[in-house]
Parts: sequence; C-alpha cells; structure tokens
Amino acid sequence: MADNLRFDGRVVIVTGAGGGLGKSHSLFFGSRGASVVVNDLGGSHTGEGASSRAADLVVDEIRAAGGKAVANYDSVLDGDKIIETAMKAFGRVDIVINNAGILKDVSFARMTDQQWDAIFSVHVDGAYKVTRAAWPIFRKQKFGRVINTTSAAGIYGNFGQANYSAAKLALVAFTRTLALEGKKDNIHCNVIAPIAASRMTETVLPPDMLASLKPEMVTPLVAYLCHEETAENGSLFEVGAGYVGKLRWERTGGHGFPIDQKLLPEHISEKWGKITDFEDGRATHPDTTAESMESILSNFENTSKADTEAVRPKVISEDGKVDVEAAKALTFPSESFSYTERDVILYNLGIGAKRTDLHLVYENSEAFTAVPTFGVVPSFAAMNGVPFGEILPSFNPMMLLHGEQYLEIIRPFPPNAQLTSTPYVVDILDKGKGCVATIGVKTTDEEGNDICINEFTMFIRGAGNFGGKKEGADRGAATAANKTPNRKPDHVVIEKTGEDQAALYRLSGDWNPLHIDPEMAAVGGFDIPILHGLCSFGIAGKHIFNAYCNNDPNSFKNIKVRFAKTVNPGETLETSMWREGNKVLFQVRAIERDAIVISNAAVELQGDASMSSKPKL
Ligand code: NAI
Repeated sequence: MADNLRFDGRVVIVTGAGGGLGKSHSLFFGSRGASVVVNDLGGSHTGEGASSRAADLVVDEIRAAGGKAVANYDSVLDGDKIIETAMKAFGRVDIVINNAGILKDVSFARMTDQQWDAIFSVHVDGAYKVTRAAWPIFRKQKFGRVINTTSAAGIYGNFGQANYSAAKLALVAFTRTLALEGKKDNIHCNVIAPIAASRMTETVLPPDMLASLKPEMVTPLVAYLCHEETAENGSLFEVGAGYVGKLRWERTGGHGFPIDQKLLPEHISEKWGKITDFEDGRATHPDTTAESMESILSNFENTSKADTEAVRPKVISEDGKVDVEAAKALTFPSESFSYTERDVILYNLGIGAKRTDLHLVYENSEAFTAVPTFGVVPSFAAMNGVPFGEILPSFNPMMLLHGEQYLEIIRPFPPNAQLTSTPYVVDILDKGKGCVATIGVKTTDEEGNDICINEFTMFIRGAGNFGGKKEGADRGAATAANKTPNRKPDHVVIEKTGEDQAALYRLSGDWNPLHIDPEMAAVGGFDIPILHGLCSFGIAGKHIFNAYCNNDPNSFKNIKVRFAKTVNPGETLETSMWREGNKVLFQVRAIERDAIVISNAAVELQGDASMSSKPKL
C-alpha cells in the first residue's frame, strides 16, 4: 500500500512524547514529513521528577531517520510555552496530540485531594492549556487537528482509578464540545481510548499480552484522524493490538409517563423493564444534545388522555416489524373542539385575510365564512394524541416531515360549533430510508354528522425497513398526483406573507415550537422558525376559494397538497391555478427563492362553482 497519507509542511505537537504512545506517534509523524515538537517533562509514571532525556532521545531518533523535530521539556500545564517552541522552531502549529499522562492509583476510600488534583491537573488542565494556546492559530489558518487520549477506565470505570477515570471521561466531553466549536474553522477533534504496552501498563498486564500491544498499532489511527483529508470529528475510538472501533451512546426507548399526573417511584418501578430494555427494537443513538432532548420534548404532549397504551394491542413486534393491519385497527382518544366566530376570524387572519376581506374577518358580514381549509383546525388536538412511538419503529419526532395533506369538507363549517375529532391509521408504508404514515382524522358535530375528514401524510426519516409494503391502496382524491398542465396558468395570485404570520397562525391550535422558538427551529435544522405548512396550505386554499368558489363554502369539496419545501414568514407566495374540469390544479412558489413550496395540489369543486370555468377576479 502506498504511503500517501503524508504530513509534509505540517507541524505536530505530541505531549508526553518521551516514551510509550507519544514516542510512537512522534516517530511516525516524523517519518511522514511532519515537523514534530516532542514534549515531555520526563518524570516518573506517577508524575514525580523531571528530565530532558526522554524527549531528547526521541528527537535524536527522528532526526537520525531524516526527520525534523525539536524537544520541549515544559509541563503540559504550561501549554503556551509548548506552542511557543513550535512557533519559534517551525512557524506554525497544525496538529496537537494531547497524550501526556500520569497515574495515581488508589482505592477511593484512601484517595487524598492531592492524588485527585494531580490527575485532573495533568490530564484535563494539561489538555486544556495546550489546546487553548493552539486554538487561535488553528482558527486563523482555518485548519487544526486535535487528538485527546482517554482510556477504557474513563468510559467504563476501573477499580482504584476514581481520579483517573473521571479525568479521562472529562476529555471525551472536552473533545465533543471542541468538535462542535471548531467545525466551522476546519478544526477537527477526536479522542482515542488506546491500549498499548508502556511503562504505564507494564505492571498491570502480563508480559505475553504486552508483547502484542505495541504502541505502533495505535498510532496509525491517530495519524489517519489528523490528516487534512479526514472529515471525522467529535468521535471516540477504542484502539489497540490492531483493533480499531468507534463508540457511541445508546439509549433505551424508555417510557414516557403522562406529564399531567404526579409521577411516583412506584410508576418508575412498574415500567423498570421498559426503561432499561435495550433489546426491544426501540433503542436509539442520540448524537447531540438536541437529539438527546427529543424524547423529553416529545413527552410534553403525553397527557393522561393520550396514555391509553395499557389497553392498546402491540403493533411493533420484538424484532421491529410493524403489523400495519393491527395499527389500522387501533382506536385513539377523540378530542372535542368548540369554536366561535372569533376563532374563525383568527384562522382567516392567520392565513392572510385582510381587513377589507369582510366575508372573512367581520362576523356581521352577510357572507361571513371560514375559508374551507379551516377544516384542519379541529384535527390538531386529535393528532397530538396519536402515540407515534407505538405504531412506528424508531420514531423520532424531529425526523418527521409533513409530506401531504388531504382535506375533504362534507358539510360547511357553521360560524360556531362543538365538534369531535377522532384519529385513525390510514396506512403505513415502508420506504426503506423512512416510512410514510398517513393518519386520518374524522370530525363530527354534536349530532354525529360527519363534517370533514383530514389525512395527514408524514415522512419519518429513519423509521423504515420494518418489513412493510411500499405502495398503498388508491384512495382517490387523497392520493391523486395532480400534475399541472403544460400551459400558462389560468389565474395567478401573489401574496406577501407577514413576518409575524406563523406567530399569528399558531393561535389556531398548531402549537409546535418549531414555528415560533428560534432554539427549537435550530434543533430542526432551520435558520429561523418556519411557517406552518398548513398555513401556506390555507393561504393557497384562500386564493382558490376567492377566485373560484363565489364565497360559497359548499362548492369546495376537497383539497390535496404536497409540501415540497418549507416557507419562511415574510416570503411572497405565488399561487398559480389551472382549471381542469371540476378541479383547480395549483402550485405555490416562494418568489424570493424561486422555490416551489406546494406541488401536486388541487381543489375539487362541486355545485355551481364546478360549472363556471372563469375565476372571479
Ligand atoms: P507513558 O507513561 O509512557 O507516557 C506518558 C508520558 O507523559 C510520559 O513520558 C511522561 O513523562 C509524560 N508526562 C507526564 N506528565 C507530564 C506533564 N505534566 N507534562 C508533559 N509530559 C508529561 O504512558 P503511555 O501508556 O504511553 O500513556 C500515554 C497516554 O495514553 C496517557 O494519557 C495515558 O493515560 C493514555 N492511556 C494509555 C493506555 C495504555 O494502555 N498504555 C491505556 C489508556 C490510556
């Protein structure tokens, strides 16, 4: 194999490089073209004494082999002096390998403050000091690589090493945070938990084992991670005797208790099996604090009403397969929703109605009505009660994208009413990388008359491969492709959304913090809180209602859209409409970005409106 991973022109600092792993790292970097600062205080393995000999010998060896190296004898606690040595000798620093370490093993019962502090000082403060001194240089030159050295003791704990193991795990957290902060400046930081024969291990491991545990079997991973072309960042590896493996956190699916009921230790006891079960197919691997918070945040919606799990049959089997037919047979709690003219006006304003649209904003107007897309509003609370974690394998709410919406109006909305909405599973399709789940919500009035039906189609990334079918049954208008014709649109309406559009729209009951809280938007990967998909849906629905329905809610039979891209509040939306038979096919474009945000969309008309083909302008 060609040795093409070179480090010519790079300057590497290796701390604690007088022996063991640090020596091996230094020799290797020296042999691959790097200039090496060989740092070592030269004390004993418990941190006593000092000598320049250890570092000098390694420098001599690198030079004898034709490499470039200088020695530094400072303690890692004087990190700035080590960086100074590099700058004086070579004029730059590219790579820092925090490797220096000592041991002060003693059982916790006998540990002194001195033993505790000395370990934290060398391992944690030392890594901090050296890296901190190099950091501004890294940032300025937009390149830096840091390797920290942890230990299995830090990851798993080890008898007699409370000080060492705690300090070593601190380095893992240090690495992960630096990786996040350094990323934008091309500074990558990784951490290794090595095993190698050295003076540190020679008293604890048997000689035949030590013979196979050469430091040279650890160094290649360090070199790979430090190469300019390696993208790995923030990762932890176990390495030794030729084995290299990456570690991550694993968390059980756990159990969410209802948020509106007092939580007692007895409840914890009752669910202990579930809380601690890694094998039930629900375990996840959170990789960021945001991902770690997802389960906690999603439990905000877990109210005692929603917690009817005890009586619901299991849909996901032990091996993660989903019984879609069993999911379809599940029943979920109904939610009641009552509204008045005030709520209708609030909704209409939320989808951009103007004060001059009297039929939409003035309850005494003769033509006063809800824009028919108001039909999504009664379903919000019912949708919140659907326990997605029970019907979808590996469900993660932050991976959920609202893909399509279908709304069928069976009876127009009176100005005020008391309604009941009941969710159900329409279908769950297995798309490999994710799943497509369609949840229906039927809304009825007090007499039990059907008012409207919603179908929310969601794509949940990472929740696929559960052995389900790929294609669903034809559900008529709900699944229609609604391709726009190849001619200029018959009618176009342009409307600028308000900067406060989402803040207003959410008052109609779609409380997802993604649309108001910048921090939550960032968790979802957005620069600012985005507009609700169903708000743009309502805006477009309003355009069609105004243009083609003569203000007659009876003429609006159903609407289906696909959410192609997100919309930012303040953007200008352009709804293009094509009349085809009794359908108005349409699409919505965000003009500033020239992005189609709603596609494959249509409103089906009925009654008088379906007869006239001209829009009312
Ligand atoms: P080692 O004792 O040969 O190397 C450590 C070096 O750090 C020594 O040369 C020592 O003089 C130097 N040092 C100590 N305090 C210093 C300070 N304040 N300033 C500058 N240099 C200082 O031991 P080894 O095994 O090569 O250890 C290297 C690193 O790997 C350490 O951080 C150790 O904790 C870690 N490690 C090693 C394992 C192994 O199996 N060898 C297992 C897990 C972790």
